[in-house]
Amino acid sequence: MKMWSGRFREPLDANFEAWQRSFPFDWRLLPQEIEASKAHARLIAAAGVLTENELAVILRGLDAIIPSAMDRATTQNKLAAPTMAASSPAEDVHHFVELELTQQIGELALKLHTGRSRNEQIATDMRLFVRDAIDATLNKLIAWMEALLNQARKAGDAVMPSYTHLQRAEPVLVAHWLLAYVSMIERDCSRFLDARKRLNLCPLGSGAVAGATLKLDRNIAAKALGFDGPTPNSMDATSDRDFALEFTQAASQLGIHISRFAEELTLYSSAEFGFLELPETFSTGSSAMPQKKNPDLTELARGKSGRLLGSAVTLSMLIKGLPLAYNKDLQEGQEPVFDTVDTLEGILRVLPDFTRALKFRFDRMRSASESGFLNAMAAATYLVHKGVPFRKAHEKIGTAVRYCLDKGCELNALTLDELKQFGEEFAQDFFDAITLEATLDCHDVTGGTARHRVREALKDAEARVRQLAKYSTVDLGQKETAHAGA
Ligand code: ARG
Repeated sequence: MKMWSGRFREPLDANFEAWQRSFPFDWRLLPQEIEASKAHARLIAAAGVLTENELAVILRGLDAIIPSAMDRATTQNKLAAPTMAASSPAEDVHHFVELELTQQIGELALKLHTGRSRNEQIATDMRLFVRDAIDATLNKLIAWMEALLNQARKAGDAVMPSYTHLQRAEPVLVAHWLLAYVSMIERDCSRFLDARKRLNLCPLGSGAVAGATLKLDRNIAAKALGFDGPTPNSMDATSDRDFALEFTQAASQLGIHISRFAEELTLYSSAEFGFLELPETFSTGSSAMPQKKNPDLTELARGKSGRLLGSAVTLSMLIKGLPLAYNKDLQEGQEPVFDTVDTLEGILRVLPDFTRALKFRFDRMRSASESGFLNAMAAATYLVHKGVPFRKAHEKIGTAVRYCLDKGCELNALTLDELKQFGEEFAQDFFDAITLEATLDCHDVTGGTARHRVREALKDAEARVRQLAKYSTVDLGQKETAHAGA
């Protein structure tokens, strides 16, 4: 029996019927739909629509749905669940719950839909789903940052070249390079947390578009579901998918960071760079070339990040032309969110362990930092300390570099006499000013690669990540338990 058949004389066209159903994918919202239905039951019980006893029966019936559906096909098992969804007559997850509840408790089940609409239900389910996804993502990002910090600690004072235009630029600490990614991920976390704050309002009680037709205390449902309060406008609440868009956008930006990291490691693992020994446990071979060890993990991470961007674009295109309020187009907004969740889940399940397992070739990184005039800026700065205007110092060092290029040596191989032809300011202390260590340490600013600055930056980053980890297990964790126990 459909949820809306009364007005219709003719049956639906079979192809249309099959095509418009969302249960083949929205079965994933079953846990959220059940929680939201329990909250709604409390809401209408408080309004006098259900007796205490009826409420208890409905709550028990709702709680029995997942275990009984799992008997037939576990919702955790992504292969079995779609089969269940395909064989069920349900139009969508809301219809499924109504059918199942009727099986469990009989006619009383039909009272549950009093004072509500699927429009507010799907908006609520999606908010709950995205909220859970944000919490899970945050936890995984913390694990990834911890793996990067762990590598940064292990790297100690190890040096590598930094690049601009993919040309060797200046030496940096390996830890400094790793901390760059920690900064990116911290911003990602802050975007997810920010989106979470905005989404954490409850649409239940918004009705189909204009608000519930019963006088409901919407705070009851909001509280039961761990929301900060009810949404303030029913038209917005039933048609708003900003929260889903923001989630996919935050995920896109994270995807961009993942992709850049993946690209760098792919490059660094090549023989041309040789900065990195790919962990065998995370690499694959070639069926044709016996010698190969391929960076499939980073390549796939780079590739899959494209899906994350795609989902955000799909959602934007979906929403931008919709008149208020609910339109069935919105049903198409679920799959990009699911795909984002699955894609992130997959990447972030391997990335922290992969990062932890990386073995850097510090010897190769160091020797790459020792040639190619990476100390030229430091050399020019030496002249600046001798009173030479930077523009002139730049010119003098540039000429010295040119001379070295012809001679096939580095700046530190020149004699003082040779140097003097480029400027009389050169003295014996020049050679101490352009060692690898001095070159690092002259970048003595907050955020610079001087060794003591990086040590400080590492400590600061560790403290921030610890703080975030505390927040995510205490605050988010508590909310989750409160919600699950509600
Ligand atoms: N399956 C629908 C969706 O995902 C649920 C809401 C249906 N509402 C309606 N008025 N037909 O959007």
